[in-house]
Amino acid sequence: MRRDSESAASPLPRLSLAWDEGCVLAVDQRALPREHRVLRLETVEQVIDAITSLAVRGAPAIGLAGALGVALSAYRHSADGRTDEASVRADAARLSAARPTAVNLAWAVRRTVRRLADGPEAVLAEAMAMLEEDASVNRAAVLRAADLVQSLVPHGPARVLTHCNTGRLATAAVGTALGAIIELHERGRVAEVLVDETRPLLQGARLTAWELAEAGVPYRLCVDSAAAAAMARGMVDCVLAGADRIAANGDVANKIGTYGLAVAAARHGIPFVIVAPESSWDRALADGAGIVVEERDPFEVTAFAGAVVAPAGTAVFNPAFDVTPAELVTAIVSETGVFRPHASHGTSRPREVPA
Ligand code: MRU
Repeated sequence: MRRDSESAASPLPRLSLAWDEGCVLAVDQRALPREHRVLRLETVEQVIDAITSLAVRGAPAIGLAGALGVALSAYRHSADGRTDEASVRADAARLSAARPTAVNLAWAVRRTVRRLADGPEAVLAEAMAMLEEDASVNRAAVLRAADLVQSLVPHGPARVLTHCNTGRLATAAVGTALGAIIELHERGRVAEVLVDETRPLLQGARLTAWELAEAGVPYRLCVDSAAAAAMARGMVDCVLAGADRIAANGDVANKIGTYGLAVAAARHGIPFVIVAPESSWDRALADGAGIVVEERDPFEVTAFAGAVVAPAGTAVFNPAFDVTPAELVTAIVSETGVFRPHASHGTSRPREVPA
């Protein structure tokens, strides 16, 4: 995997992912905010490693990386007008399994594999179409979510709390929940964003703060455990977060700590809004009990910034995600609609999207 430092000629001026001369380009999210560097991924193995190590992260982005990975595989396994479909399918299965929780990954890989019989160009065209769709999907969800927040917080600019990173780094465009926050800022409707640092990998501190600073949005960083206290002090008007997988009943898997935020928000009567594309819905699951939550390396918890902070041999519980029950969610906003899981009347379920 080659590392290209960003230059004026970088094919990734604003995007997190791109295709360039038979390779996948990806902003290395592990290096931010210290360094903005671009990875040139030349093999499926490197794409898988980028996904598992969180160089590429965020549900929509890992889906798109998976799709581009299938295109990479299709080119590598094609010669003389014939594609070794079995080898590409084996790569696709490994790409799908790189991270288990975000349903976008398996969905995107499946969608590109369907074009395999038409050759590698068709697979790549499908992956590129998905990148373009992500932009329109983001835009539609963001506008809808910003309208919703304005109606939920009608009295003036909102104090918004957010968790993890759901911005342009996590997608191929403006993002989901963070995109909505930036849209609200552009409408003059953000007083302040409180950013959870998001232990253990600090996606809030490293990535969301970086994106907010870049967009000129006023923000403050807090440790995750300060969020409930901020709500109790009346510092939060609305919580906005993303999703990795949403079950048919509206239970939401998202970054570890999201469930705690939802409990605290409910305690304080604060709207708790999820912004996520239709591709994050998994309607095959009746509820969140069936969602596989990824457990990650104990070292992410026993060390901080590379320095060991726990006694040798300390056992660790390190789930990357949690599941927030639908009853704690005020609304789930997608590109097609607003779903209010516990509204007794007028619930609008986003339309079914073919698997
Ligand atoms: O482990 P990560 O950083 O990939 O987790 C990401 C999240 O939990 C995001 O909130 C989610 O994927 C939505 S990104 C638009």
